[in-house]
Amino acid sequence: MVERPRKWAIITGASSGIGRALAFEFAAGGFNLLLTARNEAGLAEVAAHCRDKHRVDTEVVAADLSCADSVQNLINVLQTGSRYYEVLVNNAGFGMHGDFASADIEQNVQLVNVQLTAALRLTRAVLPGMIERRSGRILNVASVYSFSPVPFQSVYAACKAFLLSFSSALQNEIKGTGVTVTVFCPGITQTEFRSRAGIGEKRDSGMSAEAAARIAYIETLRGKHIVVPGLVNRLYVFMTHLLPVPMVPTIIRFINRQRGQNHT
Ligand SMILES: NC(=O)c1ccc[n+]([C@@H]2O[C@H](COP(=O)([O-])OP(=O)(O)OC[C@H]3O[C@@H](n4cnc5c(N)ncnc54)[C@H](OP(=O)(O)O)[C@@H]3O)[C@@H](O)[C@H]2O)c1
Repeated sequence: MVERPRKWAIITGASSGIGRALAFEFAAGGFNLLLTARNEAGLAEVAAHCRDKHRVDTEVVAADLSCADSVQNLINVLQTGSRYYEVLVNNAGFGMHGDFASADIEQNVQLVNVQLTAALRLTRAVLPGMIERRSGRILNVASVYSFSPVPFQSVYAACKAFLLSFSSALQNEIKGTGVTVTVFCPGITQTEFRSRAGIGEKRDSGMSAEAAARIAYIETLRGKHIVVPGLVNRLYVFMTHLLPVPMVPTIIRFINRQRGQNHT
């Protein structure tokens, strides 16, 4: 009997947080893994755990996804060889907190490059092969902020809204091809994300990265389109739909001030 080659999953931002937890989920599900982020040692640790515990093959490609050359190098890796990429997870991202008028514009552009430009380029690179094989899953990690403008995180939230809009349109375009697009919209999740972004909180809260990744993994394989994990996050999204559009940023600003994020 000829053994069918194992499917590969590509996971960006796999060195920590949700991406790392997603790597463990996909490995437990029998997927070989191509893991990418900047922290090569962190990626190597995740890869070793997946190989030892789940007997899957792994490849680590260190890449700064804010940089066009790094993204192209990664795409070159994907396009050489005869691997069968079944899953692409666009998860890498970072946040920024503060008013746009005094923000570091270069850092904002890097944020857009990591969250959007790299995700678009990677999706465009793997999608035709998936459609040809009539099989594939794309998972875009967005946020509950996809549903609302967020003062003092304006560029970050706008990127997440873009991801939601793009994913919904793409899902419709490729309907019936055997490929699905899932947009995962978590709220506060216990990772390094918030401290890295300089977002203060009055208290620790939110879902664990493992719980978030478990839900994202299951729903992606089921081909569900929009996934908002947890009741509190679903209530947040529900509220954004109820409010008059011009009021949304005012209310979000008020909520975030109560949570100790903003001083104004
Ligand atoms: N945590 C939350 O509360 C929350 C809520 C909603 C949505 N999200 C989203 O969840 C996703 C994962 O974040 P997380 O919470 O798991 O945070 P995290 O622990 O900080 O992980 C972020 C990942 O992105 C990678 N990354 C950041 N900048 C990169 C760059 N320039 N090039 C390549 N990789 C880069 C990081 O790796 P390196 O540093 O090694 O490059 C890391 O693996 C993000 O898209 C975030 O927006 C998080």
